[in-house]
Amino acid sequence: MTPLLIRDREALAVALNDLPSPRGVVMTMGALHAGHLDLVRAAAARGGTVIVTVFVNPLQFGPDEDFAAYPRTLDDDLRVLGELSPAVVYAPSAADMYPSGAPAVRLDPGDLGNVYEGAIRPGHFAGVLTVVAKLLARTRAEVAYFGRKDAQQLALVRQMVRDLDLPLEIVAVPIRRDPDGLALSSRNRYLSPEQRVQALALPRALDAAVALAADGAPPAAMRRAALAVLTAAPRVEVDYFDVVDATTFRRVGARAAGEGLAIGAIRVGGTRLIDNASVSLGGR
Ligand code: PAF
Repeated sequence: MTPLLIRDREALAVALNDLPSPRGVVMTMGALHAGHLDLVRAAAARGGTVIVTVFVNPLQFGPDEDFAAYPRTLDDDLRVLGELSPAVVYAPSAADMYPSGAPAVRLDPGDLGNVYEGAIRPGHFAGVLTVVAKLLARTRAEVAYFGRKDAQQLALVRQMVRDLDLPLEIVAVPIRRDPDGLALSSRNRYLSPEQRVQALALPRALDAAVALAADGAPPAAMRRAALAVLTAAPRVEVDYFDVVDATTFRRVGARAAGEGLAIGAIRVGGTRLIDNASVSLGGR
């Protein structure tokens, strides 16, 4: 069944009046893959109304990033979503989302927005949080589903919900990987077959960190091993690899215990890829 496609906020408001709670939203920039569909399935499993948003948000792209080239595949997206039957697909234009142009008021992500992805992509998380807040308001979401692959985005959305007392639940959905281990991403389609093989260095580096964690190694050893994998990989440029606290994204030290997050970002050709994995800290 083809979902109801809505292109403007007034029509969305009218449609939502007749749809049952809980309203669950899955926000996307389109170019949907199986990872996105996992989010939609998680939302559908809760019952109520599933709303999928498709909007390539200019606010979260830097001037040298791939905003213009970002894949826009709405017809294909609607086709794959048809099988899962979300109630509504809200795919606004930029004019509908930002009627007065780029908004003067944006959300400040604070310190968590200035490290790792935020350090490499200045302004990115202010753009993400601003559009997420707008989409939450427009969809009147009671539950919002985010993928664990964008771990820093997930941490920031949770922080925003806590700090601003937003009345909704955030559900985190596991990373979907191809059989060779590469995490699914809309940007994987930029990779040539050769680059795709090179990109596998990132999940291999994460595997190295996870294996050391299972042996009780300290975070510094995990970082060293993962960086050794990445720097040995041909034509892979490393933006960062670290082991952090999954909530604060502060680097963890030798005395940390519990659950940590190994995070990495690389460039292969012109394509940036990020990935992460949970690691147990403080010995076995
Ligand atoms: O994760 C994404 O695709 C985007 O950052 C989001 C949450 C849809 C906001 O534009």
